[in-house]
Amino acid sequence: MRVIQYIAAIDQGTTSSRCMIFDHDGAVVSVAQKEHEQFFPRAGWVEHDPQQLWINTREVVASALAKADLTKRDIAAIGITNQRETAVVWDRNTGEPVYNAIVWQDTRTDELCTQLGGDEGPGRYQKRTGLPLSTYFSGPKVRWILDNVDGARERAEAGELCFGTIDSWILWHITEGTHVTDVTNASRTLLMNLETLDWDPEICADFGIPMSMLPEIRSSSEIYGVGRERGTLPGVPVAGILGDQQAATFGQACLSEGEAKNTYGTGNFLLLNTGTTPVHSKHGLLTTVCYKIGDAPAVYALEGSVAVTGSLVQWLRDNLGIISSAKDIEDLAKSVDDNGGAYFVPAFSGLFAPRWRPDARGAIVGLTRFVNKGHLARAALEATAYQTREVIEAMRADSGVELASLKVDGGMVVNETLMQFQSDILAVPVIRPVVNETTALGAAYAAGLAVGFWESEDDIRANWAVDKTWEPGMDEAECTRLYAEWNKAVERTYDWA
Ligand code: G3P
Repeated sequence: MRVIQYIAAIDQGTTSSRCMIFDHDGAVVSVAQKEHEQFFPRAGWVEHDPQQLWINTREVVASALAKADLTKRDIAAIGITNQRETAVVWDRNTGEPVYNAIVWQDTRTDELCTQLGGDEGPGRYQKRTGLPLSTYFSGPKVRWILDNVDGARERAEAGELCFGTIDSWILWHITEGTHVTDVTNASRTLLMNLETLDWDPEICADFGIPMSMLPEIRSSSEIYGVGRERGTLPGVPVAGILGDQQAATFGQACLSEGEAKNTYGTGNFLLLNTGTTPVHSKHGLLTTVCYKIGDAPAVYALEGSVAVTGSLVQWLRDNLGIISSAKDIEDLAKSVDDNGGAYFVPAFSGLFAPRWRPDARGAIVGLTRFVNKGHLARAALEATAYQTREVIEAMRADSGVELASLKVDGGMVVNETLMQFQSDILAVPVIRPVVNETTALGAAYAAGLAVGFWESEDDIRANWAVDKTWEPGMDEAECTRLYAEWNKAVERTYDWA
């Protein structure tokens, strides 16, 4: 009998779409990637073209297969992982989006969120959804589309429109129009009740979102549908869906209560597995679904989401032109010994966890004639590490658990200078696994478990291995001084918007 040897994972992220093919050991066999356009129609607005996201996804799947000389017969299942809160609304019959995808970083719903909070404020739905009312999440974005796109509300009320996060949008296209999402993505909408794991009718009514628009919520690991006949992987089951940060947590084998990972992507996302009970934060963290494997109970996480880390490097490249490619940031930062007194607070979308300050805007402080572009590069990298420390302190305050080490992954972890500084500023070892592409790997695991390609979570644990560990080496007084100055810099960014 022919043994199918591979799982394909689609990772539709904020800056690019990727397809990775994994073997049974969790090793990468093939990868293809394509960046897509970012649209900034006004200050604070961020959009993607949903059609381009799908076209690029289709292309990278075909290209990853071709690179490894594989066909649909070699692929046991497909997993999908995605940028999470980004919202698309499309026509149920034609598949035509009614508006661009509104990206998670977009702040246009700021006033709407204040209105929705009413007298109770941003915490109005926190108990039910685990989330504060913030521009970050999808629900307010959907409401904005219904309020601002001609005819959208009438069409939605007549049952003609679908809403989906990007997983739903991709699944709809791969299959013959299956309108489904998984619990992890649904938990980022502000519309799902964390206990029932279903849409909350009262919140949907408050938001003015007809429930007929919403996808069906399913587990993160089960067969949702199969590749459509005229597609790239006809008949292949789509069997795993996880929001990208939850997928990275799964791929990092954080499968027991108390285990955490930090992903360094466009933003930074630290997730702590809290087991089968949702833990509510008192220190600015989110309560979210971590994963739900088939019929097993859902596992929850506390999350610290930082909006801007890797995208600051992109901004230095695209908007200031002080580097020509993202990887040049490290050499530039190494051209100086320290930050020269400069602090860079990238509050481009306000500040997310743990401060939740929509009114904050970016700032560089501490400038003197001495400061050069090397110091700015250094300050940009340090900002990532300081923001991570803020989140970890909030996590410690919420859970009482002292972090013994930090598992890391994502694009920025190739940056040795950053990883060493991260370890210094946290005073704990930072550990990078061999397969650093844990986001795609996590989605592959979810899909593989559903079709029996992997037997159990023990296979995931067995595949995880350390690549490199950074040990802290900074003098405690210096660490305290830097972090105190960072805090002072952050406070300068309040009350701008
Ligand atoms: O919550 C936003 C997150 O899902 C985006 O992740 O990797 O596309 O920056 P990434």
